Formats: sequence, structure tokens, C-alpha cells
Amino acid sequence: MSEGLSIRDVSAGYGPRQVLHDITLPQMHPGTITAVVGPNAAGKSTFMKLLAGLISGGGKISLNGEAFLQRPPSARAKLVGYLPQSIPGGSGLLAYESVLGAYRMTGGGSDTEAIERIFRLLDLENVALRPVSELSGGKRQLVGLAQVLVRDPRLLLLDEPTSALDLRWQIEVLRIVREVVEREGAVALVCVHDINLAMRFSDMVVVLSEGRLLAAGPPSEAITAETLKIGWQVEARIENCSLGYPVVLADKLARSETVIQLPRKKLERLKGQLREKTGRCDD
Ligand SMILES: Nc1ncnc2c1ncn2[C@@H]1O[C@H](COP(=O)(O)OP(=O)(O)O)[C@@H](O)[C@H]1O
Ligand SMILES: [Mg+2]
Repeated sequence: MSEGLSIRDVSAGYGPRQVLHDITLPQMHPGTITAVVGPNAAGKSTFMKLLAGLISGGGKISLNGEAFLQRPPSARAKLVGYLPQSIPGGSGLLAYESVLGAYRMTGGGSDTEAIERIFRLLDLENVALRPVSELSGGKRQLVGLAQVLVRDPRLLLLDEPTSALDLRWQIEVLRIVREVVEREGAVALVCVHDINLAMRFSDMVVVLSEGRLLAAGPPSEAITAETLKIGWQVEARIENCSLGYPVVLADKLARSETVIQLPRKKLERLKGQLREKTGRCDD
């Protein structure tokens, strides 16, 4: 049985509009984090919504050897923890009640210890009894994350989980996600705009562009001057920082004629590299 998340030939869209085209990724192993990056409208959120079961699509997805897309929504909901990109406005519920509700959805009973542990982990104890609607955007985002983590999912789908967080909490949330996936043997997919953050915390980076896969692999192989040029249309350098980590420095927009001339050859080369990695022969 192949452990982890397997994604092959996945496509999805909204009504007649196809947004994702033939996405095939290397296996995502238990205990790992995959960062999903790409320019605006690349299809990152659509990809997460498909995995979360909010939209339908085609292709083969399996989690720990079991077909995933065909499972009934209730069975899938037990396995998946999805944090949407939009930060919840907050109902009239108290922060504690909202996390308790999420916990009970997975059949959790009155084990308040699990909930209290999450509140401590995310430093939310002092807002536990406040209405979610009255919290700052950052705290609401953390409450959303608490709702996901308390359910102990096998597959974490976090769509820009750090967008409202300050620097400290960006690092802290990703450290916590790392700790949780390693401890539980879960698989995490995390969409982020900050490419440096993505390279730093992930085991694999997936680059989407215009609904297609541009690159997937270890951070320093997926993020190159070429992928940055094709995906984001910027001229960028990747240099090692004093600790030895690669850092992207975007210098300027790529000249449009360069962008138009570059993609086909480079894209073919990147596809070739990907084929070698995934063992697939088609496009
Ligand atoms: N509910 C929707 N109905 C129709 N089109 C949508 C919907 N949501 C997103 N799209 C379109 O799908 C494309 C990809 O969007 P999205 O997945 O949100 O990209 P990203 O998260 O990478 O910014 C965009 O062109 C967007 O306009
Ligand atoms: Mg998005």
C-alpha cells in the first residue's frame, strides 16, 4: 500500500470552465509538508477546494492507498482538515464554542483536554471566551487553524494560513504544522504567497501557473530563476543566505518578449524533469 497522498491527472473547474488541467504530483509522504505556490489565479485555491471535496473534478487521488475522490463526503470530512483562504468573519460563537463544534463534528465527545491543548498551542487561551467576530484578523485565522488541528486530520489543507499573521506567528504556525504532521504521520498541503517561507518550511514545493503544473520537487529544484520567470514573470536571483538557505530576490519584471520566447523550451525541459521524477511519460 502506498502511504501518503497520491495525485494523478487531476482536473477541476467551475461549471463549464476548466481551471486545473492534468495535475500529477510526486507522492506526498506521511509526515511531510508540501507548499503550493504560484501567481494569483494560478488555481491554488481551486486545487485545495477539490481536495477538500467542495468542488468536483476528475483524476485519481488516493490517501494511504485508498481512493479518495469517490469516498462519501462524510467519510472524507473525517480525514480532511481544510482551512479556507477567506478568514472567517465569525458567527456569534465564542472562540471556544467554535473549536468545540469542529471537534464534535468528527465524533469527539467531551474531551475538553484536546481543545484546551490546541488553545495553549496557538496561544489563544486569553481569547477563548470572546466572540470570534470581535477578534482581530490574525486571531480569527488562528481560531480557524485550531478548528482544523483539533480534529486531528490525516490530510491538512491550509490555504494561505499565514496571510493575516505577523512575522512571529507566520513562523510559529508553520513550526506547529510541522510538529503536528510529523507526530501524527499526516500529510499537509499549504498554499502560500511568500516563496521564501515556502522553501524554508516545506519538503516539496508545487508550482502552479495558469492551472497547470510548472514544477514539483524539493524546494531548491522547484524554485529556480526559470520557474520564477515563467510563473511570475519576474527576473529573480536565488542566493544562499548566511545560514545556507536559498532566498529569492526578485529584481524586476521580465521583459515581455523574454517571457513569450522562454516558456515553450523551458517548460518542455521542466516537464521532462518532472517526468523523470514521477515516472510518467505523458504531458
Ligand atoms: N467560484 C468560482 N467560480 C468561477 N471561477 C472561479 C471561482 N473561484 C475561482 N475561480 C477562477 O479560477 C481561477 C483560479 O482561481 P484560484 O483557484 O482562486 O487561484 P489562486 O488561489 O491561485 O489565486 C481564477 O481565474 C478564478 O477567477
Ligand atoms: Mg487562492
